[in-house]
Amino acid sequence: MSFLEAENMTGGYGAADILHGCTLKVEKGQIAVIVGPNGAGKSTAMKAVFGMLKLRGGHVKLDGEDITTLSPQERVRRGMGFVPQVNNVFPTMSVEENLEMGAFIRSDDFRGTMEQVYDLFPILKEKRHQNAGELSGGQRQQVAVGRALMTQPKLLMLDEPTAGVSPIVMDELFDRIIEVARTGISILMVEQNARQALEIADQGYVLVQGANKYTDTGAALMADPEVRRTFLGG
Ligand SMILES: Nc1ncnc2c1ncn2[C@@H]1O[C@H](COP(=O)(O)OP(=O)(O)OP(=O)(O)O)[C@@H](O)[C@H]1O
Ligand SMILES: [Mg+2]
Repeated sequence: MSFLEAENMTGGYGAADILHGCTLKVEKGQIAVIVGPNGAGKSTAMKAVFGMLKLRGGHVKLDGEDITTLSPQERVRRGMGFVPQVNNVFPTMSVEENLEMGAFIRSDDFRGTMEQVYDLFPILKEKRHQNAGELSGGQRQQVAVGRALMTQPKLLMLDEPTAGVSPIVMDELFDRIIEVARTGISILMVEQNARQALEIADQGYVLVQGANKYTDTGAALMADPEVRRTFLGG
């Protein structure tokens, strides 16, 4: 049994379904990456896993427990952390306030977790009193990831964490994500930078029109001539 098992997810925003039997699984401490063309339903699938979309079919299980009917907030309590594709920081709040907001469900002392986030992303400690909106794109993404880590998730879900950042910043962010996975946290990540993301992926999913087109290890997908030609630019 995988740590996350989102199986046969079917659903959408209104009458029309966007997801058609989409299945995503993540093992404990592993990195699963979703790639696919614009509009394929990658973000929709992430929202479905996080409970922001009512499913017409399928189920979501976390650590063996069926959470299909739980609200996003209840899923956070069960160990999910989500960094959405857009609007993932509070721009007029400081870095530190963003992290505090991330800890909203906690009633215990979260200063230790904040120090862990600062150890992972030292620049955030330096800039902790600056507004998140004044930071560079890469630093804002660090704030967003750090905010999600504040609830000490067991599954961290990232929707395009490297959007709009330079290749060097992307590599650094991927290194930090690998570091997070090594602590035993499972990662489910959507990425536009398909090659680079599949390189660090234990498991890869190519999503097309709301359905699984290819599913394999990251390495196997990278080596598949059809996947390379169609989705990785040769
Ligand atoms: N809130 C919404 N209401 C209605 N339709 C939506 C909504 N959000 C997305 N869609 C539609 O659902 C489909 C899938 O969108 P989604 O954002 O999941 O794709 P994506 O794979 O994440 O794309 P991208 O690579 O551009 O981020 C698209 O046709 C989109 O127009
Ligand atoms: Mg998207």
